[in-house]
Amino acid sequence: MKCIDEVPAGELKGKRVIVRADFNVPLDSSGKASDVFRLKKGWATIELLVKADAKVIVLSHIGRDPSETLAPVAEALKQFGKVVYVPDLLGPAARGAVGAMAKGDVLLLENLRQDPRESGNGDDFAKELASYGELYVDDAFAAAHREHASIVGIPKFLPHYGGLLMRDEVNALQGALKPQSPSFAILGGAKFETKSPLVRSLLASYDHFFLTGALANDVFKARGLSVGISLVSKELPTQDVLDHPHFLAPVDVTVELPDKQAKVKRPEEVAATDKIVDIGPDSIALIAPFIEQANFILWNGPSGLYEDGFTHYSEAIAELIEQAIARGAKSVIGGGDTIASIEESGIDESKLGFLSTGGGAMLEFLLKGTLPGIEALN
Ligand code: 3PG
Ligand code: MG
Repeated sequence: MKCIDEVPAGELKGKRVIVRADFNVPLDSSGKASDVFRLKKGWATIELLVKADAKVIVLSHIGRDPSETLAPVAEALKQFGKVVYVPDLLGPAARGAVGAMAKGDVLLLENLRQDPRESGNGDDFAKELASYGELYVDDAFAAAHREHASIVGIPKFLPHYGGLLMRDEVNALQGALKPQSPSFAILGGAKFETKSPLVRSLLASYDHFFLTGALANDVFKARGLSVGISLVSKELPTQDVLDHPHFLAPVDVTVELPDKQAKVKRPEEVAATDKIVDIGPDSIALIAPFIEQANFILWNGPSGLYEDGFTHYSEAIAELIEQAIARGAKSVIGGGDTIASIEESGIDESKLGFLSTGGGAMLEFLLKGTLPGIEALN
C-alpha cells in the first residue's frame, strides 16, 4: 500500500481526488452526530489534500438503512473545515458539483448505501464513481472488511493510495499481531460465536488474555453458573479456552437487581432475576498487575453495558492503560463503544496509545492480518 503522503504535493495540485472515508458516526435522538471521533481522525487526509490544492471528493456510508443521509455528518464536519455537501451520488446535482469544483474545495456526496450497488459491489457503480476522480484514496479503515464497490471496486479503475488514517491503523494493528512481551489482551462486547476464532488466536499470541463484557457471561454459563437475565451468546467458550493458561475472566460482577439498584457480587451469587451489567473491583485488581507489567496492551470492547451508563470499570481499565503508556508501554484500543466509554471518562485520549476507528474491521484484521480494502490498495 502506498500512502498519499508519498505523492509530491505538486502532483496533487488541481487533481480531482476521491477520498473514501468512514464517516459512519452514531446519531443522537435529535439526529445529530453524537460522536465525531471518526470525523476528527479522518480529517487529516482531507486537510493534506486541501493544502496541496487538490479537489477533494469525499465518499462515505452511514448506517445500514439505505434511507439514511450524510446531512448530520456534513453539519458536524463544519467544525473541522469548509465542506460543500450535495445529497446526491450519480445524478445531475452530484455531477454538476464535481464539475464546478475549484482547487482546494471539499465536496461531500450522499450516503453510498443509498444505492444497493454499493453493498452489492457492482462494478458499473464503482466505475461511475471512479469517473469523478483522477486518484483514489482509501482512508476508511473501519469499513475495510466490507467488499463494497467504493472500497474494492473503485481502486480497479484509478491509481490508488491509502490515506493517513488507513496507514496509521494498519501500522498500529500490525504491531498488535506480534505484541512485545509481556503482552495483555482484553476482549469485551457480545456474540461469542463471532469472536471465538479471535479468542483462540489472541490466547496464542498474547501472554495473558482477559475476556470481559457480555462475553464473560458466556464464561459463567459455560462453568455452569446462573447468569440470571443477562445477555448470553448462541455459542459458549469450550473447555480448552476456559482452561488455557493465558485465559482470565472476571472474578466479580456488577448486577442490576429487579429494583434497578446495582450491586457487586461474586459470579456464584448471581440470582435468577439479576442482570450482569459490568465487572467489579476485584476483577480490576486481578488484571491490574498484568497491565502494570505489560509492554503491549490490546483492548476491544467495554467491560460494562455502555449504552445503559455502566462505564465505571471500563474507565478503570483506561486509567490502568494510561499509567502503562506513561511508563513507555504501547497500546491499541478500538471498538466504537470502547472509545465512547473512554471519551466519557474525560481521560485525555492522547495519553492512551493508539485509538482505532475500527470495530469489526479491527477484529477481522487481528484475525486475518489483512482486509479486502487493504488488499485492494496493493
Ligand atoms: C462500522 O461502523 O463498523 C463500519 O462503518 C462498517 O459499517 P457496517 O458494519 O454497517 O458495514
Ligand atoms: Mg460494524
